[in-house]
Amino acid sequence: MVHVEKLTPAIGAILTGIDFTRPLDDKVCDAIYQALIDNLVIFFRDAEISPAAHMAFAQTFGDLGEPHPLYPHVDGLERIVKLENDSGAPPDTNSWHTDLTFQAKQPFASVLVARHVPEVGGDTMWCSTYAAYEALPVGMKRDLEGLEAVHDFGDFRNSFATDTDTQTSKERLDSAVARFGQMVRPLIATHPTTGRKFLNFNEAFVTHVVGLTTNEANALKTWLANHMAKPEFQMRWRWRAGDVAMWDNRCTMHYAVADYLPAYRCMNRITVINDRRVS
Ligand code: SIN
Repeated sequence: MVHVEKLTPAIGAILTGIDFTRPLDDKVCDAIYQALIDNLVIFFRDAEISPAAHMAFAQTFGDLGEPHPLYPHVDGLERIVKLENDSGAPPDTNSWHTDLTFQAKQPFASVLVARHVPEVGGDTMWCSTYAAYEALPVGMKRDLEGLEAVHDFGDFRNSFATDTDTQTSKERLDSAVARFGQMVRPLIATHPTTGRKFLNFNEAFVTHVVGLTTNEANALKTWLANHMAKPEFQMRWRWRAGDVAMWDNRCTMHYAVADYLPAYRCMNRITVINDRRVS
């Protein structure tokens, strides 16, 4: 039987009673899905899930994402992103973000497995964008309703802003802009399963607010980022190797704390594109 223990009132739960060495039956997957919808991010301690079981587990919820546009993958398994960092390869996931909101299809969920974690540090934080919306002042809710924001590859620009032997930074940035494109999304959105509203903003990928000047948009973006930084909307997970996290990428943002260098940290991530139970 799946047991669910909440970690904070707004977000996060630990699930126990699941054996990842065997195929999971539909009833167990439905219970996990419900726990995800209710708690936004769920954890399985010491799950020791194999890469094959990781893929099979993610696939029970929807189709797997294409290989990541920037990150490498696990040998022979291109749908499993390998997030591997140390002082020679510092992480770039230490900003609040919702995965790939600049793509036409914003992914439904991610399943992250800790393969190697530093002795101390390297925690991940999640934020409920439902809670952030619900705590907005009434006037701000009214002002944001109907506004739309432009999402592009935002912070990933850093990876393209230097010359290489074959290309200038301008050429690399121009081709990245063409490759990744941009999306316009409402600032207040509604979750397809729960019908709850959430604040559809993340500081890594929202670059502009439609209809405002850059100066006005910057002021609003800073206000929203500060509002969403409140600990009341957030939780923080201290990893052990073998842990698994799964989050609903529609109504959360996350931040991988980059406090562990020069130590080594390695995570495996699978993105689930669509929510099979909705479509
Ligand atoms: C991510 O941003 O998806 C990575 C999270 C992590 O490495 O903790």
